[in-house]
Amino acid sequence: MPAKILDGTAIAKTIRAEVAQGIKDLQSRAGITPGLAAVLVGDNPASATYVRTKGRACKEVGAFSETFALPATVPESELIALVQRLNQDKRFHGILVQLPLPGHINERRVVHAISPDKDVDGLHPASLGRLVEGEPMFVPCTPAGIQEILVRYGYDPGGKIVVICGRSNIVGKPLAILLMQKRRGANATVTVCHTATPDLASFTRQADIVIVAAGSPNTLTGDMVRPGVVVIDVGTNRVADPTDKRGYRLVGDVDFASVEPKAEAITPVPGGVGPMTVTMLLVNTLKAARRSAGLEPDEGDVRS
Ligand code: GUN
Repeated sequence: MPAKILDGTAIAKTIRAEVAQGIKDLQSRAGITPGLAAVLVGDNPASATYVRTKGRACKEVGAFSETFALPATVPESELIALVQRLNQDKRFHGILVQLPLPGHINERRVVHAISPDKDVDGLHPASLGRLVEGEPMFVPCTPAGIQEILVRYGYDPGGKIVVICGRSNIVGKPLAILLMQKRRGANATVTVCHTATPDLASFTRQADIVIVAAGSPNTLTGDMVRPGVVVIDVGTNRVADPTDKRGYRLVGDVDFASVEPKAEAITPVPGGVGPMTVTMLLVNTLKAARRSAGLEPDEGDVRS
């Protein structure tokens, strides 16, 4: 039987409708329109596309957003000064600095400059610390989106063996912490594999759920999974394709052709995790705006 395709676009649509309603409620209760400031440094085409997509998504749900584009040569101090101005700007409840940043800029210093109250990306140490505590406030968007896909399709990670390939600060590490929490939609036994893992397949073959965020095509192939596995592909790799009008196509980190026939369910690329990352940014921005109006409980994540 062919694998069930976990349609991130469809779930994203449902959640965006919930966010749009939440924004209307907030406007009528408190006269507040959630605002997102997106900061784009340099001219990385993928980053520019992501930021454009995020701005469009804000508009679609009725949130306000503005993009602040800076040249690749901007000094770190200027970027940090912009972040500090945005921290004080009441029009914005959330601030997103698109990563990666050019090599001369220390990403940590920039992320640390974002007010934890506006950290809708969930990457500030205060947000990550609360996640580790088990009392999350802003959960990083890609991990939160992956959890929503699993739960909404009925593949609750509770009691399951989850193997994550990749240990980035944006996906692998926070996802591992999120899914190991003793909470609904989590409570998994989590293993994190990475570039120094010997015999990756010996880990992935044990897994009920494999999540691949390695940043490299064909990291997971059909011989590396057991029948009935659920596979989440976080990869978005551009590979040259002269037949495509953009000159490239997107492929994930999973060799779909060999993994899909063995899987119970699998996310496509594109149309899987990507739309959910953007959607969880909208969820977090609404949450930040609600918090600013004193409408959000401070402890714990009300969504889980
Ligand atoms: N670059 C790739 N993914 C992300 C993300 O989720 N947030 C930010 N700020 N940059 C990214």
